[in-house]
Amino acid sequence: MTALTDIGQLATCPPDDPGAGLVDRAALVWDEGVVVWAGPEADLPARFADAERLSAHGGLVVPGLVDCHTHLVHAGDRSGEFVERIEGTPYLEIAGRGGGILSTVRATRAASDADLEASGRERLDAMLRQGVTTVEAKSGYGLTVADEMRTLRVHRRLADAGPQRIVSTLLAAHAVPPEYADDRAGYVRLVVDEMIPKAAADGLAAFVDVFVEQGAFTGSEARTIFAAAAAHGLGAKLHADQLSDTGGAALSASVGAASADHLEYVSDAGGAALAAAGVVAVSLPIATLVLGQEPLPARRLLDAGVRVAVATDFNPGSAPSASLPLAMWLACTRQRMTPAEALRGATVEAARALRLDGVGTLVPGGVADVAVFEAPSLYAWLAGWRAEPAARAVAAGETVWM
Ligand code: NIG
Ligand code: FE
Repeated sequence: MTALTDIGQLATCPPDDPGAGLVDRAALVWDEGVVVWAGPEADLPARFADAERLSAHGGLVVPGLVDCHTHLVHAGDRSGEFVERIEGTPYLEIAGRGGGILSTVRATRAASDADLEASGRERLDAMLRQGVTTVEAKSGYGLTVADEMRTLRVHRRLADAGPQRIVSTLLAAHAVPPEYADDRAGYVRLVVDEMIPKAAADGLAAFVDVFVEQGAFTGSEARTIFAAAAAHGLGAKLHADQLSDTGGAALSASVGAASADHLEYVSDAGGAALAAAGVVAVSLPIATLVLGQEPLPARRLLDAGVRVAVATDFNPGSAPSASLPLAMWLACTRQRMTPAEALRGATVEAARALRLDGVGTLVPGGVADVAVFEAPSLYAWLAGWRAEPAARAVAAGETVWM
């Protein structure tokens, strides 16, 4: 049993109450990786007197952060495109001539398993130093049966090595690969008939994601893919309404998706559909900023009753930063999410977008994934974004970074 004391401010992020569940001068106790008590330190029950003691040194303690949307495993370098975009070439134009996603596909296919795993490891380590203890990872830069499955197997090896919890998503419908340029239907059949069954049979993915967009996949192709996912017991996620309003939000609601991600162009009707169906909206403000877009109307969605998560979208093109605290700060500054909403968005609501019960919350019964930051309060931490690492990260009760 472990008691973390001298907490300046604790945020428990209760799953069903709004707000961050803030407690000043708090203590947190866990046993065998599960939270057993949280509250003001002055009320710490005597029965925990023998627990091993850790000190938060007056800092901020929050649930281990949950990055619920990343393209973790990939190879290559797209910094040339970064400069081209600055010089005025739009993202879709770069993609249309074989750059963008397809450039990363070429590099990823050419990379060895060992290189993919090593770079994935480095990225996870960097995320851990920012207090991120759960990471969703999407395939989508392989686009052949073999390359998609090996990406998912890299996710599994990274998960097995720990310490982070990895949730694996098959995003074979990220782009139509060049060899199927004249046979889109053939590629959708490959995803449906081979990739989804194989990923499900080998336990390699929890979700199937589809990039629904002009130049990527249509709503009707996505429905076909999600029907196959459901038949194999896999959940649905969408890259929806990112570059235009394609009705992605309504589609997410109609297929019972766990989340609809991006949503920069979501309509009011789309927002209402998300609220009614309980689909989590995932805001990806780093990608929005990099692509020079107007931010997702998070305030409007929250006020309409939608649960909003915040994630990095870490990828080599539209979001080449893996800093979830940066995304949270952007959610506050550009999307008028309060610090409590941004923190919930990167913890308990992000876990909801991954259908992980008991993760992202420090109420009793929650998993003891904890991040400690050197700041006296949540407001002080998020008011000015600093690239400083977390002071400590705990995964399932064990200190894994400090
Ligand atoms: O989430 N929207 C599609 N996919 C990624 C971009 C991936 C890339 O540019 O490589 C995204 O923004
Ligand atoms: Fe993405």
